[in-house]
Amino acid sequence: MLQERIPDLSKYVEPDRVRREVYTSPEIFELEMERIHEKVWIYCGHETQVPKAGDYYTVQIGRQPMIMVRGSEGKIHVLYNRCPHRGNMIAGDRKGNTGEFFRCSYHAWTFKHDGKLRSIPMMESGYAGTRINKDSPELCMKHAARVENYRGFVFASLAKDGPSLKEFLGKAIVAFDDMCDRAPEGSVEVVPTCFRVIQHSNWKIFLENQLDALHPSVTHQSTGRAAHDVEKLIEKETGKSPIAYHMLSAFATVTIDKWDNFQTINYPYGHCILTGYMGLRPQDPDTLAYDKVMIKAYGKKRFEEIVGVNIHHVLLYPGLSVQSPLQQLRAVRPLGVDKTLTEIWHFRLKGAPEPIYRRSLAYYNLVNSPSTLINADDLENFWKCHQGLSSDGGDWVSFARHMGRDLEKDGAVETAPNCGTSEAPMRNQMKAWAEYLRG
Ligand code: FES
Ligand SMILES: [Fe+2]
Repeated sequence: MLQERIPDLSKYVEPDRVRREVYTSPEIFELEMERIHEKVWIYCGHETQVPKAGDYYTVQIGRQPMIMVRGSEGKIHVLYNRCPHRGNMIAGDRKGNTGEFFRCSYHAWTFKHDGKLRSIPMMESGYAGTRINKDSPELCMKHAARVENYRGFVFASLAKDGPSLKEFLGKAIVAFDDMCDRAPEGSVEVVPTCFRVIQHSNWKIFLENQLDALHPSVTHQSTGRAAHDVEKLIEKETGKSPIAYHMLSAFATVTIDKWDNFQTINYPYGHCILTGYMGLRPQDPDTLAYDKVMIKAYGKKRFEEIVGVNIHHVLLYPGLSVQSPLQQLRAVRPLGVDKTLTEIWHFRLKGAPEPIYRRSLAYYNLVNSPSTLINADDLENFWKCHQGLSSDGGDWVSFARHMGRDLEKDGAVETAPNCGTSEAPMRNQMKAWAEYLRG
């Protein structure tokens, strides 16, 4: 039915441009949910969000409300948040501990952590002679078709078939390796709560912005400049410049032409890496203390390899943006064609000294939180893009920058030297999008 209403996707996507309806059509949005978000591997959360048996966290996968729950045997299950009786959501709150079982608030059916039916009040007398018997599989809470955990990061796919999580992530799996390897103990721990921002724009606008190396020195110029002024003032007064200011002033000091020095590497399934790092490996006492702990844990050679990983950002299409060197990630959850939720999480490196966590926290607050001007700068653009795309002022969105200069290498598409501001990541995302939608 839906396919009939969208007869020819090739009319919407060309290699260097896409039609505006891709962002604004409710029919296309429904098709995206069905063929992309409810099919591929979607990030549910980190295993440390549910450390004890019965701990759960609710999460949206496409249009489906889901629950990630830790079972008594230690396994993490991902279940549809729906009671098989009359459809009531089992968990009405965002997170909690359900105790030994889930109990529906409507008629008290109860379920084990793996979704299996546990009890129905007065089952014998109430259901004798009906189609309901205790062993009917339709009396269980349905679970996600597939669940996998990579180094603590839990993903679910609602489709029975498809690539494994590792195949799906491919080389972009480095996002999690880079984050975990930077911990002396080799793993990270979630900071238990996240910022949640609702953007009044299409989900793809957010993802396209993540590896858009052209925008920071324009969109964030005023924020960067203001921070730079204060940073200089503090430096003059105290002789030291606090690293937190540098996180913001870099948006002004890395000027528009310098962003071409960065590089993106584009992978199958729409994933992409932005290489280059904004000089955040300083030689201050906190960093040196961290280096010492890391060298003790890994040895000098491996330590140099780990901290030498040159990644600024990894985009895992269609729902995750990871900044591994600063232990941050943003999960993108489309709520409607013009409404998108982002969850902004950050992590502690297990075994690292506290100041390193404080630095991650500073970046989280200063660059990624809803209260920072950086985020506000972007959010304003996202909303304005969606408004413009909803108008009759034009039909196409252009992704032609540095088109034709990309280099194909080992199954990836790399931007050529001095083409860091290429729109190759957007072209790569739309290529994956069209492949998914064609089914
Ligand atoms: S709807 Fe859940 S027990 Fe009735
Ligand atoms: Fe930005």
